[in-house]
Amino acid sequence: IPVDPFDLVVFGGTGDLARRKILPALFRRFQAGQMGESSRVIGAARSDMDAEAYRGFVRAAIEEFDPQAASDSAALEEFLGRLSYVALDAKGTAGWDKLAGEVSAGRIRAFYFSVGPGLFGDLAQRLHDYGMADHDSRIVVEKPFGRDLASARALNRGLAQHFQEHQIYRIDHYLGKETVQNLMAVRFGNMLFEPLWNSQYVDHIQITVAESVGVGGRGDYYDRAGAMRDMMQNHLMQLLCLIAMEPPAKFDPDAVRDEKLKVIRALDPVAPDNVVRGQYQAEGDKPDYCTQVENPDSRTESFVALKAHISNWRWAGTPFYLRTGKRLKDRASEIAVVFKEAPHSIFGAGAGRHRNILTIKLQPNEGIELGVTIKEPGPGGMRLIDVPLDMTFAEALGPDSADFPDAYERLIMDVIRGNQTLFMRGDEVEAAWAWTDPIIEGWEERGEAPQPYASGSAGPDDSLMLMHRDGRRWREIK
Ligand code: BG6
Repeated sequence: IPVDPFDLVVFGGTGDLARRKILPALFRRFQAGQMGESSRVIGAARSDMDAEAYRGFVRAAIEEFDPQAASDSAALEEFLGRLSYVALDAKGTAGWDKLAGEVSAGRIRAFYFSVGPGLFGDLAQRLHDYGMADHDSRIVVEKPFGRDLASARALNRGLAQHFQEHQIYRIDHYLGKETVQNLMAVRFGNMLFEPLWNSQYVDHIQITVAESVGVGGRGDYYDRAGAMRDMMQNHLMQLLCLIAMEPPAKFDPDAVRDEKLKVIRALDPVAPDNVVRGQYQAEGDKPDYCTQVENPDSRTESFVALKAHISNWRWAGTPFYLRTGKRLKDRASEIAVVFKEAPHSIFGAGAGRHRNILTIKLQPNEGIELGVTIKEPGPGGMRLIDVPLDMTFAEALGPDSADFPDAYERLIMDVIRGNQTLFMRGDEVEAAWAWTDPIIEGWEERGEAPQPYASGSAGPDDSLMLMHRDGRRWREIK
């Protein structure tokens, strides 16, 4: 179903994110028939090029990052026909009159700030100065949303001068992932889980976002950010919020975001011995972290693991273990809800210790798995084993079910539809920084260096210890 006609301006339209994600996502939505006839996309960036050159640039990007979609060359040409380009200076006046002439009044106008946060304020100001900040406009801002609480507040204040909160879409692409939304469906669409979803029944929760890639060509940005700012403050905290929040009364933006905010505000400060940082070492022909970011003395972490506590009635006493890192064993992200053991085993000590684990797999194979304990088949007596009740989406729902829109496709269309449920509100982002800031400041004050870990491993040994000393262990990354 096509969405209402829109003009979407992509600032940073020649940048890496635009090439890899935004433009291919728009093309796929176009192919799916969602971009009505008069909707248009306008690239905007510093480079001096004309619309024809930009179309060539976008064609190359889509061919590189989504060759399968690009093989529909008739559709691709038609999509390219919807594109134009404006060269402009975000801090000056050049190009802005032209841009104002390109976007039409009286229809949805979305401005995607796919640029560093240093330009957010300037772009908002120019949009206002050139008459593009009216009630039909909305802006989309990418992470990182600042680098600490003070800078995030300043950004929020800058944007608020010209846009109201309901016009600001702060992207966290993890919220657009299919399984992340499914997490809410599983929690609040079933009777089965919610009564057990608390510290009385849940032993602990693990959230892992493991990547096998290194920092790649983004060394400059990454070395100033690190895993804490790049992943933990946003993606992992969002997952934590969705898994821990109280049921919102409705699936609507403020109801959901109010509940997420309460979780962040209930987080205890993290003691230094409950956080582990790591930095990857070289492996074969793959360089170590410092070489890759061209900073031999870098103390930036490419891995972080921590133990968090939520001080509220539901979760007091249930630890949440979170970890994320680059150059780990595999690309594997999941949330595991590990339930407590049954209070008493009627089968005796020989039956072993068993507990149910609900695993929500985010990637690569999206799905949900519930480990249940059953009798081992055969005559051997009452021996218990754990087997998975598996709902890998592709298997359960057929191969087409794996063909869902990617996070960016969904989120961009939500912007056009005006649905903010899967976007972060300003106070949420600030609360998240307020929680991570003291952790980062502690490292800086103590001059702590991250621990080296072998590429292809599960991270530094101390991260394993973080669990072991509590008598628990991380699930395998696979
Ligand atoms: C981005 C981070 O937000 O998320 C990257 O900046 C990271 O460092 C990426 O690689 C991971 O996203 P995904 O969707 O591949 O898990």
